[in-house]
Amino acid sequence: MTLPIQDYALLTDEECDLRIIAAKAKLGKRCVILGHHYQRDEVFKHADFSGDSLKLSRNAAEAEAEYIVFCGVHFMAEVADILSRPEQIAILPDLAAGCSMADMANLTKVQQCWDELAGIIDVENTVTPITYINSAADLKAFCGEHDGSVCTSSNAQKILEWSFSRREKVLFFPDQHLGRNTGYKMGIPLDQMVTWDFNQAQGGLTVEQIQRAKIILWQGFCSVHQVFQPIHIDNFLLKYPETKVIAHPEASFEVCQKADFIGSTEYILKIIREAEPNTRWLVATELNLVNRLHEECKGQGKNVHFMSPTLCMCSTMFRTDPQHLLWVLENLVEGQVVNRIQVPEVIADHARHALDNMLMQVI
Ligand code: 13P
Ligand code: SF4
Repeated sequence: MTLPIQDYALLTDEECDLRIIAAKAKLGKRCVILGHHYQRDEVFKHADFSGDSLKLSRNAAEAEAEYIVFCGVHFMAEVADILSRPEQIAILPDLAAGCSMADMANLTKVQQCWDELAGIIDVENTVTPITYINSAADLKAFCGEHDGSVCTSSNAQKILEWSFSRREKVLFFPDQHLGRNTGYKMGIPLDQMVTWDFNQAQGGLTVEQIQRAKIILWQGFCSVHQVFQPIHIDNFLLKYPETKVIAHPEASFEVCQKADFIGSTEYILKIIREAEPNTRWLVATELNLVNRLHEECKGQGKNVHFMSPTLCMCSTMFRTDPQHLLWVLENLVEGQVVNRIQVPEVIADHARHALDNMLMQVI
């Protein structure tokens, strides 16, 4: 019989901690826990593997375990289901752990965009659709059906280069900032990267703008990374001019232009971990990662600061708490699967094609 979540709501984190360790020990190799870097400490410490979206996708594809418990957000568990073997089971401890950026694009709106573009340019032969991994499975399937690809924040440039070697334009969704920051780094002028406003006819663009564009950027964004502003960097540098600035590419163009380094969560960790001792860092990404990195590096005299004066974490990543993690694990011990994420095979097939196009590219 399924153990009800209500029985877990009032447990303390400490109680959960001990029981999570015990449940993991009972499940052994049958269960693997994957944890994204934005997870809170109380959950993150139980992960068998941690990483950015790309690393965790590879972990999921290579996992041997029967159960893949994904401490992350919904699209990550979908990717785990798509890339794992049919008999493996992907689980998301709290089904409400979504991604507000992923929700900014949906299949109906993207199909409408594609159809409107088709009235102006030869989309099938000149446009490659690229979806950021932060998107629903049916959008990955859309890209697969049109021989496009998925990308993550750590391989966006590789995937854009691959796209431009095949066709002249890219439709990039849902994150405008990752697309713009990457395109600009590759030398594409800003006026050849137009923004498709999905609430307006023809994306609010003229025929000429669409014809001239190299990249058509969906007008989505991450509300967490939107918080960082160039003024935060300017003010901080006035006080500590020796600071190195590092940003996730979901931050705005203006912030990324002022950064010394730009990259995925895994890249941010690597750069700061490998930096000289006694250095100061201003970081534009999610708070849990920054706090953990600060704790880890302070012994080496490194100062790691969160960029915004207002503290802001990813509320959906935060939804996965020790209580939900314990609930799914103890149910597995009882032979019950709760919160399974299962992508219908017809969608998974096409989405796998787009994910394979990504995974085939060298990072
Ligand atoms: P990474 O792939 O860099 O970990 O990013 C995932 C994400 O959701 C960032 O907001
Ligand atoms: Fe989505 Fe932003 Fe949270 Fe990443 S930080 S999961 S992009 S809402």
